Amino acid sequence: MKRITVIGAGNVGATCANVIAHKELASEVVLLDIKEGIAEGKALDIWQTSSINNFNTRVVGVTNDYSRTEGSGVVVITSGIPRKPGMSRDDLIKTNAGIVKSVVDQVVKFSPDAIIIIVSNPLDVMTYAAHTASGKSSNKVFGMAGVLDTGRYKAFLAEALDVSPKDISALLMGGHGDTMVPLPRYTTVSGIPVLDLIDADKLDAIVERTKKGGGELVNLMGTSAWYAPGASAALMVESIVKDQNRVFPVCAKLDGEYGLSDVYLGVPVKLGKEGIEEIITLDLDNDEMKLLSDSSDAVKSVMAVYDSLK
Ligand code: LAC
Repeated sequence: MKRITVIGAGNVGATCANVIAHKELASEVVLLDIKEGIAEGKALDIWQTSSINNFNTRVVGVTNDYSRTEGSGVVVITSGIPRKPGMSRDDLIKTNAGIVKSVVDQVVKFSPDAIIIIVSNPLDVMTYAAHTASGKSSNKVFGMAGVLDTGRYKAFLAEALDVSPKDISALLMGGHGDTMVPLPRYTTVSGIPVLDLIDADKLDAIVERTKKGGGELVNLMGTSAWYAPGASAALMVESIVKDQNRVFPVCAKLDGEYGLSDVYLGVPVKLGKEGIEEIITLDLDNDEMKLLSDSSDAVKSVMAVYDSLK
């Protein structure tokens, strides 16, 4: 791929650009920010690791000059303010909705064919805002959260079981918030059902910690996380650029899948060169379906707040 753009050179955007460059997913990564000099500086710093860490991808930083993003195949949007302690992701809606909409307008102007990945919070509703502003089909505009939330869940499990995180396969659905839906039934360690290896109450505690995984980090650092969020978005970019059809939970617009419509929610999808190649519909049991529809209701209530701002 010729060019990938990351909008927002904060910690998440810069980390994402760094991982994309290390994986050599494009000839050029453009990092764009509105704050004078910040994207140029971080891009230059990353580029100076090219000979040290052995990668070719040029890393370029620009201040608000969208013409430099022209013809990007994938654009990752991380713009917006992060959470401070005591804030929920939903508290960010007013500020970030305006930012995301104006960014999407510029992105689409210069890269009409780009696949757009949203990382800004509140994630599910910012995906809604971006998709609406883009005028694109919903398989081209979707959100990153499930890869991050599943990554946290797997990290906690690997520690509790003292096994390699590489051997854990897991699925987590729903919104990126306290109503996310980890699915123990779809969690295995090299194919071994997780409940054969861990007590249900211990697994419940890990599920609860996962749901609040972002908040745990906000409390520790006074701002939100970046290594895992940035790497998660880059992993999605890789599956698209290499047309891998990897199966990840992604925030997608639902049109009847799982009996849900007009909502943007984390569900398993195949990610390939067209973006979302397919939404995978699982046969959830009643309890799982109840959790997913509660999560859908929670996201819809924040979508309604967004609609009332327009
Ligand atoms: C988190 C933020 C990025 O979960 O939503 O860390």
